[in-house]
Amino acid sequence: MHNHNSKISLVIGLLVFIIFIACSKNDTNSVTKDPVSSVLNLPATPYNYANIVLPPYLSGPDIQGQINTPQNNIITDNGATLGRVLFYDKSLSINNTIACASCHKQTSAFSDPVVKSEGFNGGLTGRNSMSLIDAKYYPNGNFFWDQRANSLENQTLIPIQDIVEMGMTLPQLETKLKALTYYPPLFTKAFGDGNITSNRIALALSQFVRSIVSYQSKYDAGRSNFPAIPAPPPNAPFPNFSAQENRGKEIFLSPQFACAACHGSETFTAPAARNNGLDLITTDRGFGAVTQDINDDGRFKVTTLRNVELTAPYMHDGRFATLEQVVEHYSSGVKNHPNLANQLKLPNGQPRQANLSPQDKAALVAFLKTLTDLTIASDQKYSNPFK
Ligand code: HEC
Ligand code: HEC
Repeated sequence: MHNHNSKISLVIGLLVFIIFIACSKNDTNSVTKDPVSSVLNLPATPYNYANIVLPPYLSGPDIQGQINTPQNNIITDNGATLGRVLFYDKSLSINNTIACASCHKQTSAFSDPVVKSEGFNGGLTGRNSMSLIDAKYYPNGNFFWDQRANSLENQTLIPIQDIVEMGMTLPQLETKLKALTYYPPLFTKAFGDGNITSNRIALALSQFVRSIVSYQSKYDAGRSNFPAIPAPPPNAPFPNFSAQENRGKEIFLSPQFACAACHGSETFTAPAARNNGLDLITTDRGFGAVTQDINDDGRFKVTTLRNVELTAPYMHDGRFATLEQVVEHYSSGVKNHPNLANQLKLPNGQPRQANLSPQDKAALVAFLKTLTDLTIASDQKYSNPFK
């Protein structure tokens, strides 16, 4: 009995000792641990950002001309990986509270579900946050609602320096990132050496943003049944669509209702800032404040409608909470602003109201929802890499 007990305590003692050794070994491990993997969840082989296989209608000659990637910033897997880390890093704001992703949320198709977003100090942005999906397909390369940034590379440094959004200066940014041990290895992989500059930060962020392309929606599944060129006629039913969705597609694509005259091509955008008749008198000059031309007042970027179901609220000021309200605007609410786009004018110069029946309004909304691509909203490679 006595002997047996002491054996047990010996075994327990040994076990405790082993556990102690094991734990202290773990501790020393974590001190010497790799600076990247101790902070970030990144795959050993980077995700594929550079060679996403797109359907022919999103990669063919027609759409090539829409791509705004500059020759000096072709996407690489390591470049976009660095961009992903930067995009989710709150260190890019002066008080470590805000990342790009705070206002461009993956689950909201990289927009923000509020009318105005909150910056590092609780201040609010001047406009509604924009979806970043398909940013690469905007041929004039102008960014923001008012198109004030003339390239994505120039755009990406603006929020960092914005006094409401992230509140940094570029020298502060560089100094701060140099002190974070996970960055030198990531910059080395992306650019060949560990030198951290704001120019490289802009390049990497742009690579990540341009890698976000939507091609796996219900619309895409239907579109794939037809050749890339010529595009199927508006009334050609998609076999995977309900009758209502097909009716909505027909309305959207038909010249009579003009949606596709602006939200055109397979990315549902147009390379221009236009006035879509939101107001008779504009309070936000938009593009007009950029060009200092009153003929551009009240003109805003024609955003992509891909994933529009996920990007509420809508328009540059987030005035519409639902797609039903947006459709009602085009059906009965188009205002005769002096700069109202021709696409929304009748031959007599009056605003073109789509005058849709309740069934057709519902069909148009149903069609817009076929543009939802849930893979984008959940794909690991676009998600937060921080542990
Ligand atoms: C505090 C919220 C906030 C933060 C932080 C923020 N953004 Fe934005 N973003 C916005 C808003 C609001 C707009 C629209 C502003 C406008 O048009 O005046 C916008 C617009 C954009 C656009 C233009 C999209 C287009 O189609 O024209 C891009 C690209 C973008 N942001 C990328 C970024 C990146 C990259 C970061 C991080 C470096 C970032 N944003 C940080 C709120 C934010
Ligand atoms: C004259 C060009 C034009 C036409 C025609 C047009 N739109 Fe738009 N659309 C725009 C512009 C410009 C915006 C952004 C306006 C703003 O925010 O000030 C916009 C915004 C939208 C938005 C909100 C996008 C967002 O992310 O906030 C939706 C949805 C939309 N349009 C759907 C439609 C539908 C459906 C039709 C057809 C009934 C249509 N549009 C016809 C130019 C147009």
